[in-house]
Amino acid sequence: MRIQTYDQYQAAYQKSVEDPEAFWAEIAQEFQWRKPWTKTLQWNFEEPSIKWFVGGKLNITENCLDRHLATRGDQPALIWEPNDPAETGVTLTYRMLHEQVCRMANVLKRNGVVKGDRVCIYMPMVPELAIAVLACARIGAIHSVVFGGFSAQSIADRINDAQCKLIITADGSYRGNKEISLKGTVDDALIGCPTVERVIVMTRTRTPVAMLKGRDVWMEQELKHVTSDCPAVEMDAEDMLFILYTSGSTGKPKGVVHTCGGYMVYTAYTFQNVFQYEAPVGERAPVHFCTADIGWITGHSYIVYGPLACGATTLLFEGVPTWPDAGRMWDVVDKHQVNVLYTAPTAIRSLMGFGLDPVKDKDLSSLKVLGSVGEPINEEAWHWYDDNIGKNRCPIVDTWWQTETGGILISPLAGITHTKPSYATLPLPGVQPILVDENGKEIEGNGVSGNLCIKFPWPGIIRTTYGDHERCRQTYFATYPGLYFTGDGCLRDEDGYYRITGRVDDVLNVSGHRIGTAEVENAINMHTGVVESAVVGYPHDIKGQGIYAYVIADQFPDDHDADLTKRDILATVSRVIGPIAKPDKIQFVSGLPKTRSGKIMRRILRKIAEGDTGNLGDTSTLLDPAVVDEIKAGAL
Ligand code: PRX
Repeated sequence: MRIQTYDQYQAAYQKSVEDPEAFWAEIAQEFQWRKPWTKTLQWNFEEPSIKWFVGGKLNITENCLDRHLATRGDQPALIWEPNDPAETGVTLTYRMLHEQVCRMANVLKRNGVVKGDRVCIYMPMVPELAIAVLACARIGAIHSVVFGGFSAQSIADRINDAQCKLIITADGSYRGNKEISLKGTVDDALIGCPTVERVIVMTRTRTPVAMLKGRDVWMEQELKHVTSDCPAVEMDAEDMLFILYTSGSTGKPKGVVHTCGGYMVYTAYTFQNVFQYEAPVGERAPVHFCTADIGWITGHSYIVYGPLACGATTLLFEGVPTWPDAGRMWDVVDKHQVNVLYTAPTAIRSLMGFGLDPVKDKDLSSLKVLGSVGEPINEEAWHWYDDNIGKNRCPIVDTWWQTETGGILISPLAGITHTKPSYATLPLPGVQPILVDENGKEIEGNGVSGNLCIKFPWPGIIRTTYGDHERCRQTYFATYPGLYFTGDGCLRDEDGYYRITGRVDDVLNVSGHRIGTAEVENAINMHTGVVESAVVGYPHDIKGQGIYAYVIADQFPDDHDADLTKRDILATVSRVIGPIAKPDKIQFVSGLPKTRSGKIMRRILRKIAEGDTGNLGDTSTLLDPAVVDEIKAGAL
C-alpha cells in the first residue's frame, strides 16, 4: 500500500486512472472484511449515486482496533496531552483503547442506542471523545460530532436535522486559561430538540451542572454497569459511518455523509502515503500529532480513523498553541518526541509572531514530516515552518482537501514529491482533477487557472447530504454536469503543479474554519435594529481571511452608540453561531450596492473591504451608484 519512490507514485497514478477498480480493490484487500464485495465501484455523478465495495461487509473498529491486538496490543494507540502541562496525560495502548471503546459502546446500548441511530457528540479534546466516536462506529450508530465552540443554536440545528436520539457531552472544557461550559450549552440547545432521549455527561471540569432525572446520566456511573465485551456490528460498506456538518454558500450548514468501507480505505491509504507513515511491528511507532479538533474533518480522518486503521500512534492535544506560552506546541513535540506534525497555516502564522525565542530551547529533532491543511499557506509561513521547525530537513506536505472529500486529494508524498512553497503539488493516486472555466469547459494544458473539479470518484467522496439528497446534487454535481465541483479556484503551473487559490463561492475560510457568508448575515440580521447586512472576506495576516460586515441599522447610530451596537451584534453572532463567526470589522452603511434586480454586488464590497478602492469596475448597473462613495468614505 505504501509508495516509496517517485516512479512508484507515477505507476500507481497511472494504474489508478486506467483501471481504478483494480487499483482500489488491491488496496482494500489489505483490510479485514467480514464478507468480500462483489463490485468495486458503481457510480454516476448525475443523481449522484456512488457506491464503493458493493456488498462488502465490515466494521471499521475491527480494522482500527481488533485487527492490531495480536501484533500491537501493547503499542500506544493514543497519547493524550492535557490543556494544563502540569496535569498528567494518558497513554492508551491498542488493548486499552479497544477495551474502553467496547465499554463505551455497551453504555450506548444500555441507553437504547441501536444500529442506524444518530448520536451527537459535543465534547472537549479528551480521549473519551475519540472513544465515543469509535463506540458509535462499533455498534453501527451514526456519529455527528459538533465542534465544542459552536453555540446552543448551532447544536440544536444539527441535532434536529439529523434527528439525534442521544448526545454525549461533558460538564465543561478547558482551553488555555479559559473554562468553557458544555453541558449548560447543551441544556439550552435541548429546549428545542424533541428527539433527544438521553444525555451522557462526562466529568472534565467538575463544574456544577443541571442533571435532569430520566434524561441525563453520568458517563462514569454508566461505565460501572458494563463489561468490556462488545462484538462489533456488521456493517455494509455503504452504510453511513458519520455525518459532519459544514458550511456552504447558502442556507444552513449541511450534513456531509461518509460511509464505512470507502472512507476507511481512503483515509488509511492517504494517511500512510502522504505522511509516509511506517510502523514496523515491535518497534516504537512514530508519533503522529495532528493539531486539529476532532470536531472538524481533519480530526476525524487524521487523528482518529486514518492513523488507527494503520496501527499508528496518534496524539490528541486538548490545549491551544499559545498557552501557557507560545512554546507549548514545541513543548508537546519535544515531550512526546513527535515524528509527524500536521497543523494549519493560521497556527504557524500566529506562532511566527512570537519570534524564535519560544522555539530555541526545544528539541525538535524527532520531527520527520511537517503537514499543512485547511487554507492556502503563504510562502512566508511555509519558509518559516521549513527553516525553524523542520530545520530544512523535514519535507512539508501541503495537503488540499475538504469535509466532502473525506481525505486528502492533492498533496506531495513526504520526501517523494518535489515540493514548492504554497503548492499542494500533485493529485494522489485515484484523484483526477480538472480545471474548468465559468461555462464548464475544460481548461487544458499547463500555466492555466480555473475552477477546480474532480471528474472521477475516489473511495472517500461524499455520498449525500443527510436528509436532502437533492441539496447534495445541487451543491456539488449540478454546476458542471458530470463533475464534482469543489468550490475552489486553482492554478496549474508550467510543471503541472496545483496551487489552490481559495474559494470562488461565498464561503469564508477564517483561521481554517469554514463559514458561509449567508450564515453570518442571517445571524447579524437577527439582532434587533438591524435591517440588512452583507458579509465578505478580506485578507487577514494571521487568520488568512477576516470577516467584514456592512450593516444597515434602522437608526444610523452615533459614534458612542455605534460602538455599543457593534458589541451587541458580536454577542448576537456568538449566540447564534459561535465565537468563530464574529465579524472582525463592522461598518454601518445607509444602503448596499444593489443591481436593479435587487442583487447585492459583492464584488464591490469585497474590493472595498480589501482596501482596493481604486478601480471598482463597472458600477453603472447599480440602482444607486452614490451609495458606493458613501461606503468607500466610511471604509474601516
Ligand atoms: O478552500 C479549501 C480550503 O478549505 C476548504 C475545505 O474546508 P473544510 O471542509 O473545512 O476542510 C478543511 C480541512 C480539510 C477547501 O475548499 N483548504 C483546505 N486545505 C487547503 C485549502 N486551501 C488551500 N490549501 C490547502 N492545503
